[in-house]
Amino acid sequence: MERKPFIAGNWKMNMTAESGAKLIKELAPLVKDADCDVALCVPAILIPAMTEAAKGTNIAIGAENMHWEPKGAYTGEISADMLKEYGVKYVIIGHSERRQYFGETDETVNKRTKAVLAAGMTPIMCIGETLEQREGGITEEVLSKQLGTDLAGVEDVTKVVIAYEPVWAIGTGRTATDEQAQETIAFIRKKIGELFCPKCAEKVIIQYGGSMNAGNCKGLMAQPDIDGGLIGGASLKLDFATIVNYNK
Ligand code: 13P
Repeated sequence: MERKPFIAGNWKMNMTAESGAKLIKELAPLVKDADCDVALCVPAILIPAMTEAAKGTNIAIGAENMHWEPKGAYTGEISADMLKEYGVKYVIIGHSERRQYFGETDETVNKRTKAVLAAGMTPIMCIGETLEQREGGITEEVLSKQLGTDLAGVEDVTKVVIAYEPVWAIGTGRTATDEQAQETIAFIRKKIGELFCPKCAEKVIIQYGGSMNAGNCKGLMAQPDIDGGLIGGASLKLDFATIVNYNK
């Protein structure tokens, strides 16, 4: 079953309209012949300017979060319509930093994921275990619980991109080994097969995220179940192009 690889950046709370547009202009010619889908998920306030900067390129602009309600009294939140107005295709949901620092729960991840799908966009839904959980031998239990709740009531799981981001690998320089990432992502695929259907699970794009960089991307991308990457730090520089061109 062919799954088109998908490399996405997550700028987090970095870059400005000026530095972001400059980076996109420099990246565009370097990634134009990519064999994978390419996206940069950026802070909401940068979406209009980055959409403009990426016009005519193969770089799609995504968001880093979205509220589940279509509108209303939710100070500081961003709705689906606001994102769609700028042609946003992808929305990161449930990043571990949102879970850790901003009270995101599996229940709210589930609501957001379904709202992104209902709006016709693609959620990049993040799951992953902490170091304590991995060392405690409960990684599979943690991921099963996240998947079960986060995907509850989703009608077509093939429209969801899953990002497996072990919390201990994010921003730490400590990447999961190729084998660890493959083994865990294969487990995630198997679990999706149980929750939905094995055939659907074969179609789901599952990315790895956590200190993925220009040096380790080839090995990770060579794994049979790893379909892409969600890149933090390395998406803030031209290294992102090297990752996008991992197969060249
Ligand atoms: P780093 O690539 O900086 O470790 O971040 C990964 C990540 O959190 C992407 O969402």
